[in-house]
Amino acid sequence: MIKIAILASGAGSNALRIMEHFAESPLARVVLLGSDNPSAGALDHARRMGVPTVVWTRADFAGGSAPLADLRATGADYLVLAGFLRLVPLNVIEAYRDRIVNIHPALLPAYGGKGMYGNRVHEAVIAAGESESGITIHRVNERYDDGAVIAQFRCPVLPDDTPATLATRIHTLEHRRFPETIEKDIKNLKKI
Ligand code: GRF
Repeated sequence: MIKIAILASGAGSNALRIMEHFAESPLARVVLLGSDNPSAGALDHARRMGVPTVVWTRADFAGGSAPLADLRATGADYLVLAGFLRLVPLNVIEAYRDRIVNIHPALLPAYGGKGMYGNRVHEAVIAAGESESGITIHRVNERYDDGAVIAQFRCPVLPDDTPATLATRIHTLEHRRFPETIEKDIKNLKKI
């Protein structure tokens, strides 16, 4: 049984889909929802699902030891960033190398990097006149949106799209594809 920890800063709709997907799975279970934002909706979803939660402060991240200690205490084998806006501490990346995945709401390497998150991504895609966007699920390293791509899924950008309508289409794609991509990825994983 692979133990998954999810890190999320915001509403947590992806985190919820992942917790639901693995709730009855013989393969994996979500054992922790960690956040840097005490009012993240993701924390409420986790509490309702009976998944333990932890909130890390800015000081916790600066020190770097609290997040890693909490992840180790739960026995987490695999980390999922689902709308997590902070850079993961280096000691966590080193401890979980090749075992951390992130989802980005565009087709990387385009529209990624520091500051490219949320509606800013969709605004940039629309401003550039793209006819297609999508999602990228990739491994996490020391740099924003830079690790190896695991999977990409595409969707159209329609002529009358606003950042909000495009965001809705992207979210639907994420909810469908992120849990199944994680499942495929952890089938090849050994326990730590
Ligand atoms: C998603 O669009 C994801 O691609 C990005 O952050 C958003 C999180 O949404 N990294 P939610 O909190 O899962 O609803």
